[in-house]
Amino acid sequence: MRVAFSACLLGEAVRYDGGSKPCPEVIALANKVEASPVCPERAAGLPCPRPPAEIVGERVLLRGGADVTDAFTAGARHECAAAQAAKIPLAVLKKKSPSCGIGLVYDGTYTGKLTAGDGVYASLLKKEGICVVTEDIVKSCTPSVEHPVAIVLGTGLGHLKSLVKPVRRIDYHDIEGFPADASPIEGHSFEALIGTVDEVPVVVYPGRVHLYQGYTAAEVTALVRHAHHLGCRDIIFACATGSVPGNAQMGLGILTDQINLTGRNPLAEWDGLRDVDTPFVDMNDAYSPYLRTIARGVADDLGIAVEEGVYAGMLGPCFETPAETAMLRTLGVSYVGMSTVCEVIMAKALGMNVLGLTLAANEAGAANIDHQSVLAEAEKHAEDFERLVRGVLRLL
Ligand code: HPA
Repeated sequence: MRVAFSACLLGEAVRYDGGSKPCPEVIALANKVEASPVCPERAAGLPCPRPPAEIVGERVLLRGGADVTDAFTAGARHECAAAQAAKIPLAVLKKKSPSCGIGLVYDGTYTGKLTAGDGVYASLLKKEGICVVTEDIVKSCTPSVEHPVAIVLGTGLGHLKSLVKPVRRIDYHDIEGFPADASPIEGHSFEALIGTVDEVPVVVYPGRVHLYQGYTAAEVTALVRHAHHLGCRDIIFACATGSVPGNAQMGLGILTDQINLTGRNPLAEWDGLRDVDTPFVDMNDAYSPYLRTIARGVADDLGIAVEEGVYAGMLGPCFETPAETAMLRTLGVSYVGMSTVCEVIMAKALGMNVLGLTLAANEAGAANIDHQSVLAEAEKHAEDFERLVRGVLRLL
């Protein structure tokens, strides 16, 4: 996978003050991918060191007033064209800078204060559909013993637990809020494994409970709150789904967004609310664009066929009628399942980085789907699913 990086984050002395801003987590990522160091100011031929530049309205001005908009724009265009030519899907950029800043940039007072906006280069990359993130996103997604990656496995995907070198096991019934009477359905097991997969610290939950079993949204999200308490910042949800004909094929998928059609929400239940600052959670980018882009890159590198699409969560447990399937197609849904949506809401409310992976094991609305056929289809894709998850973990 090819990734562009602000050269200063990799330790190159290209900043206005003649220095760099090396970030260990970013350097670690750069060492695992095909890294393209980028500095739009360097590409523009600006001297280094130089006075600091900030965005003032539509212009880029040096302290002292010189207008360097044309140079910044030329450098940004040059580097953006290079990223497009190299089909780069992801750029890790230095936050706040007038070229590379994302969402927040220095405000033109040269005092360190910030204002909403993107740097010139970041804004061009965004327009081209390239995923841009700051070093803070890479840091927040980097696992450690204190911050393991949580992995919640759904129907037919539980075999991934065999990859874990466990150091501790936790019976789900010892997890606060997990329903005391719950026992696993076929293909699930109710023991969390804390340990490593390929040396990456993980907590694997090889099964879940569902709303359709009569549990509340607070109960089905107990594992998410548990993972958060353990320090997990990344959480991977894997679920079996039906693919909506016309919008997705059967096989592996990366979830890009969701529609919660269950009629339930953990944030409407007191138990779910206890841990969160506000129930009015912003659900934009609920499925982390950074993690999605990493997953896409891994799949492409490994030659694993993976589609992407929107997930609709139904209450279940019956499968969809043809009319419901037609409705889902019209709504732009690619994958339909009976889990995940409440868990993603909970994880987003807790500020976690979510990756959603699915195995579409049947066509939604088809006749004669049953739990056994879902398990049998999942088995066929087990190896690719495992390679995909391991590949993602390697890059975190
Ligand atoms: N619909 C809903 N949930 C599912 C399906 C489906 O077709 N397949 C597996 N889980």
